[in-house]
Amino acid sequence: MTDQPVITVDGNAIPLLGFGTWNLTPEDARRMVAEALRIGYRHIDTAWIYHNEAAVGDGIRDAVEAGHVARDDVWLTTKIWVQHFDRDGLLKQARESAASLGFTPDLLLLHWPKTDPSFEETLGALNEAKDQGLTRTIGLSNFPSAEFRKAQAISKAALVTNQVEYHPYLKLSKLIETAKELGSSITAWSPLAQGQIADDATLIEIGQVHGKTPGQVTLRWLIQQNVIAIPRTSKESRAAENFDIFDFELSAEEMDRVHALARPDGRLGDWIDPAFQWDREW
Ligand SMILES: NC(=O)c1ccc[n+]([C@@H]2O[C@H](COP(=O)([O-])OP(=O)(O)OC[C@H]3O[C@@H](n4cnc5c(N)ncnc54)[C@H](OP(=O)(O)O)[C@@H]3O)[C@@H](O)[C@H]2O)c1
Repeated sequence: MTDQPVITVDGNAIPLLGFGTWNLTPEDARRMVAEALRIGYRHIDTAWIYHNEAAVGDGIRDAVEAGHVARDDVWLTTKIWVQHFDRDGLLKQARESAASLGFTPDLLLLHWPKTDPSFEETLGALNEAKDQGLTRTIGLSNFPSAEFRKAQAISKAALVTNQVEYHPYLKLSKLIETAKELGSSITAWSPLAQGQIADDATLIEIGQVHGKTPGQVTLRWLIQQNVIAIPRTSKESRAAENFDIFDFELSAEEMDRVHALARPDGRLGDWIDPAFQWDREW
């Protein structure tokens, strides 16, 4: 791995800044993944349901062939879609994802929690996928604290991250605490609130002090909490902007000012099964 900041979970060094690929067409995903790796990103996030795993794999191969990076220096995450949570379906998709990517992923996540099949069946199958060498590590996405704890109690292997929505307009203190207690990590999806941060007066003002943009302030605020952030962009210039966050630091007061932007209705993507409830933060 490189010398950029990482969080070490169960012996795995995961770069705190990654590159997201949701909503990128295969063409854009290949171009932007190769460009992100050229810029210096060492962590790429995709999912079966994004329909771009093959393009993401091609983008990584393009960067490797151009001499910008070695495969082993890239942390690559993909996810099991909810329709594949039964044992056979999960193992079939794990094989399919690895084949599409052309690489064994470093991390395979359960995309959203479900009541049926049981956690025992799905986590058993996820562990089997790891034991069969279809992924190096396993984890979760969109699991509230209660389900995060239950899943880790069932799983033989460490669940190295829980990837959830997190940005300045959401509070996440309870889930961050749960991840710490479990020796796991949090990965922030929609870390830029899908672009909403760009016009925020507080983030603009803090940025002016440091000569940085609202996006850079936001990503810095996340990694200073030891939270992994995976911003997405279809533009080369923004990929470079979002990577340029390692030469400044937010003060404790600035961190608090960003935390104060959180609001009860700040959630952008609430697709959780109604059987589960997000941690109560308000
Ligand atoms: N596990 C899950 O359930 C889940 C759910 C959602 C997302 N994710 C993952 O998280 C990644 C990131 O989340 P996201 O894609 O929803 O949103 P995001 O990264 O918060 O925001 C992306 C949007 O912000 C714009 N943008 C990028 N950099 C910017 C900057 N510096 N200033 C202003 N605007 C900027 C992009 O537009 P341009 O393209 O025009 O630059 C794009 O429209 C996804 O790509 C995916 O990998 C996971």
